[in-house]
Amino acid sequence: MPEGALPEPPKPIGVPDIRLAKRSRGYRPVVMLTAYDTPGARIADGAGVDIILVGDSLANTVLGYEDTLQVGIPEMVHHVGAVSRARPRALVVADMPWMSYHLGVNDAVSNASRLVRAGAEAVKLEGGRRRVEVVEAVVAAEVPVMGHLGLTPQSVHAFGGYRVQAREARAAEVLLEDAVALAEAGCFAIVLEAVPDSVAARVTEAVDVPTIGIGAGSSCDGQVLVFHDLLGLREGKPAKFVRQYAQLSELATSAVSSWAADVRSGAFPSEAETYHLPAGDDRPD
Ligand code: KIV
Repeated sequence: MPEGALPEPPKPIGVPDIRLAKRSRGYRPVVMLTAYDTPGARIADGAGVDIILVGDSLANTVLGYEDTLQVGIPEMVHHVGAVSRARPRALVVADMPWMSYHLGVNDAVSNASRLVRAGAEAVKLEGGRRRVEVVEAVVAAEVPVMGHLGLTPQSVHAFGGYRVQAREARAAEVLLEDAVALAEAGCFAIVLEAVPDSVAARVTEAVDVPTIGIGAGSSCDGQVLVFHDLLGLREGKPAKFVRQYAQLSELATSAVSSWAADVRSGAFPSEAETYHLPAGDDRPD
């Protein structure tokens, strides 16, 4: 493998590959996409993404909740298992949900181990320097940790809503210091969500692990999007940073409408979709 290159398919991608993947070292941008089930993981992996994130966005993307605070370890374990059963070559990272790493390091390590036993190869958690102790403990238990700074959705109430972060000079300094603290604590990559591009660029330059941006501009070392946003499977107006590459919701509704119309008119099922007796061999195929 050439210097500065991630493994090519079908070689699996591991944490050490991602840890090195800085554009300043000659790497191409890292591609990370969320997935929450086996078909989604197969689609993401078939498209060649580098990292599949089983995000706690599970809550508001798939399970119908208002925010990410509504899922815990049992739901995450369930969905990490579904993703890992796709056996992707992409690295599988699982979000540690709210309250799974806030009650002490032992609890955090134990919860991280449940995600690993479900199939995750690394975990992601939100917050800066106040998470250093937890990051160090989880890393010491041999579980790689990805950090997450900026608009951390688990802090929605503390932030008073979903707002772009680090707009003021002091907040940008704090973010920069948090990123350095996370990298020093052992994070192998850091997600930067909804921060001005110039702040993301400074962070990317300041840390020697890759930054993965979502609404953080083009100078990050990688980009992440939510599966349902990219594919147009979500209700409502997408965030400014989302680019929709398909409108699958419309396509799916139209396919289901066609089937419903065929059932109502008697056009479904046809002869070809029907079993007959006596054929001697009427097994389903
Ligand atoms: O849960 C999630 O989907 C995330 C991404 C937005 C980074 O944390």
